[in-house]
Amino acid sequence: ALPESVTIYEVGPRDGLQNESAIVPLDVKAEFVRRLIAAGLPIVEATSFVHPKWVPQLADAADLVARLPMDGPVPLPVLVPNERGLDRALEAGVRHIAIFASATETFARKNLNSTLDEQFAMFEPVVARARAAGVDVRAYVSMCFGDPWEGAVPVEQVVSTGRRLLDLGASQLSIGDTIGVATAAHVQELVRQFEAAGTGTQWLAMHFHDTYGQALANAHAALQAGITTFDASAGGLGGCPYAESATGNLATEDLVWMLDGLGIAHGVDLDALVQSSAWMSTVLGKEPASAVVRALA
Ligand code: HMG
Ligand code: MG
Repeated sequence: ALPESVTIYEVGPRDGLQNESAIVPLDVKAEFVRRLIAAGLPIVEATSFVHPKWVPQLADAADLVARLPMDGPVPLPVLVPNERGLDRALEAGVRHIAIFASATETFARKNLNSTLDEQFAMFEPVVARARAAGVDVRAYVSMCFGDPWEGAVPVEQVVSTGRRLLDLGASQLSIGDTIGVATAAHVQELVRQFEAAGTGTQWLAMHFHDTYGQALANAHAALQAGITTFDASAGGLGGCPYAESATGNLATEDLVWMLDGLGIAHGVDLDALVQSSAWMSTVLGKEPASAVVRALA
């Protein structure tokens, strides 16, 4: 049976904007987050405290956070890769963070300048110190279905990476299809393997990119497998600058349209969301990737 309700974890301001080369003004970023909150998104990932040279678009993270309601009812998590990032985030008043690991050796090198094994040593003090400060820690795993350099990624490698992050103290795992190559049966097999290893669906979120047009089908397959948290990006913005061939995330509007059709509650006001994405697409000077936004705007 499908769930009665799901949680949509909005990543537009972070995953969506990190891939835009033209720097988006601070006021626009702050307005984007405020509009997403006003549209009813229950959680909005706001930015990243990564090295500013690695992601210049998000170099203004501390200034953005200073303009946002960090103690409001809607959690506004930020990406943090290491202790330097955690120091900056805590100083800015962040209450929720997300670390981001790679399931493959090559992407650990490209995205974190680390090896697969070294990344856990980098994350360990981040998770421990964040938790000691009462800050919640989500953990992403990237390249869970395929890697542009290594090809197919064994399911066991993803499960073992994910379980190491939970053992460090992460409260949720977001399973990333960074380059959008996943298909429905692969998604269900991955969920089954996590369950077989003792990690139930309540620990898992799904993070689909739509490169091959499979993101919505994969979300439906994940729903059938018992997943109740889905990452999505307003208008379908997104992509990772360190992953070849990564395009936008599953569009939040496309997910909402499907959930409405299935009668699954999500709390989001679709009209307000579409208006926000149409506005952002004008600001960026780009057609929205989301079919639902194009149909309704
Ligand atoms: P590094 O160069 O190895 O860093 O980068 P380092 O530890 O050697 O430090 C070098 C210098 O950088 C030092 O300064 C540090 O203080 C400074 P110096 O002493 O030379 O003056 N530094 C920092 N400054 C500010 N903030 C920091 C920070 N860290 C070090 N946090 C590092 C290692 C991890 C920092 C780098 O590789 C990095 O920033 N990577 C981030 C890449 C990124 O943001 N990728 C996109 C997000 S992941 C994604 O999109 C996938 C996801 O959506 C899921 C999916 O789709 O699969 C989440
Ligand atoms: Mg992503």
